[in-house]
Amino acid sequence: MAEEVSKSREADLRARCNALLEIMRNRLTTRQFDPDCVVPREHYDLILEAARHAPSGANAQPWHYIIVTDPGAKKKIADYFVEEQRRRAKLKMKFPTPNYRGLETAPGMIVVVADFRFTRAFPVLMDGSDLDRQYHENAERILLQSVAASTMSAHLAAAALGYNVWWVTAIGQETAQKAMRPLLGVPEELSIIDIFCFGPAAKAPYKRWKKKLDEIRSWDRFDMKQFMTLDQISEWIKETRHKVMYRDESKID
Ligand SMILES: Cc1cc2nc3c(=O)[nH]c(=O)nc-3n(C[C@H](O)[C@H](O)[C@H](O)COP(=O)(O)O)c2cc1C
Repeated sequence: MAEEVSKSREADLRARCNALLEIMRNRLTTRQFDPDCVVPREHYDLILEAARHAPSGANAQPWHYIIVTDPGAKKKIADYFVEEQRRRAKLKMKFPTPNYRGLETAPGMIVVVADFRFTRAFPVLMDGSDLDRQYHENAERILLQSVAASTMSAHLAAAALGYNVWWVTAIGQETAQKAMRPLLGVPEELSIIDIFCFGPAAKAPYKRWKKKLDEIRSWDRFDMKQFMTLDQISEWIKETRHKVMYRDESKID
């Protein structure tokens, strides 16, 4: 009897995990949305409810989310990105940049704000020494991982609600921060680290290439078969990056 119960519990848990994995597999990026969709207020609440429960270093929760509903503000944000795209093209960065006009089509737009002053809540010395610098570097990583954990939870909730998503980070630079803060009334102590767009896709979204399980996993020791040299990485950037960013995984040779 006890065995029966445990078997049925195991089956329930599997089903629950499979349902979660199905949402994760179908979290697909799109960069052009159907602008006619209206996101109900309740959906913003559900999405940010997911963000709220994320883990964070020292449980500092160093995040804040600004829901942008004003089409004028969305357009200004899109304008800024298009301008940034031009700047990058002039700098010859050779990064395959998407069309950021798509930002203004996003029915759902949430700007992610991080408070880097919370790095001092993590192990740091605060004495300006070289050792302190090393700890501060790690504290920044802790903070970024924390905000990413929360943001990812929000993306998954949006995917669960049937939306496609777009994670946009191309705004981290100081000049971009300066331009964007007044638009959203963000105090200068805080950083706008990314923008989360969601809604129904304008065109059918596609699944991008993902590494296979064996390629991301080692048992007990790092599997050197998975180690890439710098030359291999440069080759990947040259030959593969643009395909994995903008093509269906089934159409990559
Ligand atoms: C941290 C992070 C930063 C990203 N920044 C951008 C960005 O600035 N612009 C953009 O178009 N896509 C950006 N993306 C989206 C990725 O390009 C996309 O997730 C990736 O190509 C894989 O596609 P998928 O989300 O459909 O799995 C970002 C994603 C992450 C997680």
